[in-house]
Amino acid sequence: MSVSTRATPPAAEPGASAVPADKPPAVALTEVSKAYRTGRGELLALDKVSMTIADGEFVCIIGASGCGKSTLLNLVAGLDRPTSGTVETGGRRVGLMFQEPALFPWLSAARNIELALRARGVPRQARRDITRELLHAVRLDGFGDKRPHELSGGMRQRVAMARALAQDADVLLMDEPFGALDAMTRDLLHDELERICAERMLTVAFVTHNVREAARLGDRVVVLSSRPGKVIAEFAVPRHGPRRIDSAEVAQLAATLTDQLREEMGRHGN
Ligand SMILES: Nc1ncnc2c1ncn2[C@@H]1O[C@H](COP(=O)(O)OP(=O)(O)O)[C@@H](O)[C@H]1O
Ligand SMILES: [Mg+2]
Repeated sequence: MSVSTRATPPAAEPGASAVPADKPPAVALTEVSKAYRTGRGELLALDKVSMTIADGEFVCIIGASGCGKSTLLNLVAGLDRPTSGTVETGGRRVGLMFQEPALFPWLSAARNIELALRARGVPRQARRDITRELLHAVRLDGFGDKRPHELSGGMRQRVAMARALAQDADVLLMDEPFGALDAMTRDLLHDELERICAERMLTVAFVTHNVREAARLGDRVVVLSSRPGKVIAEFAVPRHGPRRIDSAEVAQLAATLTDQLREEMGRHGN
């Protein structure tokens, strides 16, 4: 397998970017640090993280629990500000998806999706049409009137995916979105996500601690160190047609990623 590895210097030059200057990246983090104030003083969650995501690129971010992955996505989403450094998205619309689908239980699947459209000021009839189209995109035709408790875990995440798409985002930030699903359901959703991203030319930052999932989905996999999170390695994954989670290629990259993480965790005595 031709996995190209590129160790990224932990402290890149300010303003350094992997993307040529004539094509600005969709997402650019430059020397981003984030410290939280806690009862026991400051807690450094991210330490000078520099990374870029090109338009249309699918980047997986992996790292041990507590290394700052969610913090990083929150900063890109603009939900929080870095303590130092800059986060740039060039005015792109950003959509978020989490491990918990966080749907309104009293609203049907269709109404949950429509709510995101209403928030964007989409008129009533257009909301109906777009909702039907989104339900179709996530393969939930005919399930629009079901309420979340009537749907399986995988179906609920499909609704959450449709709702994220309803935000008409250019950049989708996914925080362990399939972490609570069984392997088979996850596998199916990987295929769906790949198809949807290709159809809509989405840029994706996908956080996971599942190395196989990262190897299956990413055009590139970025490995973070244990807390404070720093970029310690990047793996570009060339595409040769559709990938399968049980393929030799994915298994080989997953093994490399596991070694990286083990070494890192060993260094921190985890
Ligand atoms: N709002 C917060 N206040 C204080 N500490 C926080 C806050 N959010 C996260 N942390 C801490 O920052 C570190 C990174 O958290 P997080 O980004 O959630 O990690 P991950 O998503 O990789 O598991 C953890 O040690 C966590 O306890
Ligand atoms: Mg997290």
